[in-house]
Amino acid sequence: MSKSRSSHIKLSQSPISEIVKSIPPSGIRKFFDLLSSIEGVISLGVGEPDFVTPWNICEAAIYSLEKGYTMYTSNKGTPELRAEIARYIDSRFGLSYNPDNEILITVGVSEGLDLAMRTILNPGDEVIMPDPCYVAYPASVSLAGGIPIRVPTTEDNDFEITAEAIEPYITDKTKAVLIGYPCNPTGAVLSKEELTRIADLAKRYNLLVISDEVYGQLVYGVEHTCLATLPGMRERTILLNGFSKAYAMTGWRIGYAASDKEIIGAMTKIHQYTMLCAPIMGQMAALEALKTGDSEVENMVKDYDRRRRVIVKGFRTIGLSCFEPKGAFYAFPSIKTTGMTSEEFAEKLLWEEKVAVVPGSAFGPCGEGYLRCCYATALSDIEEALKRMGRFIKKHRKT
Ligand SMILES: Cc1ncc(COP(=O)(O)O)c(C=O)c1O
Repeated sequence: MSKSRSSHIKLSQSPISEIVKSIPPSGIRKFFDLLSSIEGVISLGVGEPDFVTPWNICEAAIYSLEKGYTMYTSNKGTPELRAEIARYIDSRFGLSYNPDNEILITVGVSEGLDLAMRTILNPGDEVIMPDPCYVAYPASVSLAGGIPIRVPTTEDNDFEITAEAIEPYITDKTKAVLIGYPCNPTGAVLSKEELTRIADLAKRYNLLVISDEVYGQLVYGVEHTCLATLPGMRERTILLNGFSKAYAMTGWRIGYAASDKEIIGAMTKIHQYTMLCAPIMGQMAALEALKTGDSEVENMVKDYDRRRRVIVKGFRTIGLSCFEPKGAFYAFPSIKTTGMTSEEFAEKLLWEEKVAVVPGSAFGPCGEGYLRCCYATALSDIEEALKRMGRFIKKHRKT
């Protein structure tokens, strides 16, 4: 290429695609870049367990390295891990997937989400999702050329997306519904009855459902319903799950997708050209997690439940109304009575009291007036954060 041609490209064209330009940076990360510069901050911010991955899981990965397992695996993931996942889904939900062609090991649920969208969407196809929702949902749809359609959910309705609320948003362009319950950021779960109504709607309008169940093991006093178990849903559901949250394995980057073989085959095609395979050490660790990790998960869930009760009670005591989360590890208190926006509140709280939370508005317009507070942190830190937030509310209370 001549010199003049390359300088012409630099001067007159942005190197960034219109789609990428249209996507806002993650409202979570944007906020947390601030954190590293402030000392003594208590963070209820980033959504990950404060537990280290259980030692036997780490050890399995170390042992596999010692044995020389440092290579690529099959694109789909190791046969042992796929078989174990199939066994796990079958024993937990009574649902059977063929590990040879209906399960794909991904680089976290994040990759599964991206693959699912790129696999099913044609340009302009619409995907319905709840608002507020996990920040990657609308972005993954837009990046795949689709259009995210947000359906408002409210505290009055326990932040549940309902079939009744979804139906008016269905158009000729609607390809799928994307749900993630237990929900990040609200901690809401969907009842089996409501999921059944959503499933009926999906069947009636011939829609796919992408069900992100990464928090499915983290529920408190309620049952998690796996959407694909509902009648007629196995073939129209892309089930996404992973190891990050329940097994405290965020850094290992292992997730999986389970669905009909045509969909998994197409997802595998993209995965083999872009990712090749998920890291082998992570896959070894995940295999051990499924084989022996249940009791550790149970202990962590008990611990999160204790902290959940403390934080919800604490918010109510300092004068913030707080919906009772039944899953994941987030509380979503309302700050509407303060008259501040979520972003204003979060920023002031950080500077004045050194407590980091995520503005609810980072998760969509319906998150405005709320804060996402992750309680997967030490109980003593939660108690101190509540004390500081109580002081902050008193100081800024509108009279
Ligand atoms: C709802 C939801 N789905 C997916 C992810 C990403 O999970 P993974 O670490 O498996 O990519 C997160 C992470 O916060 C999440 O909250």
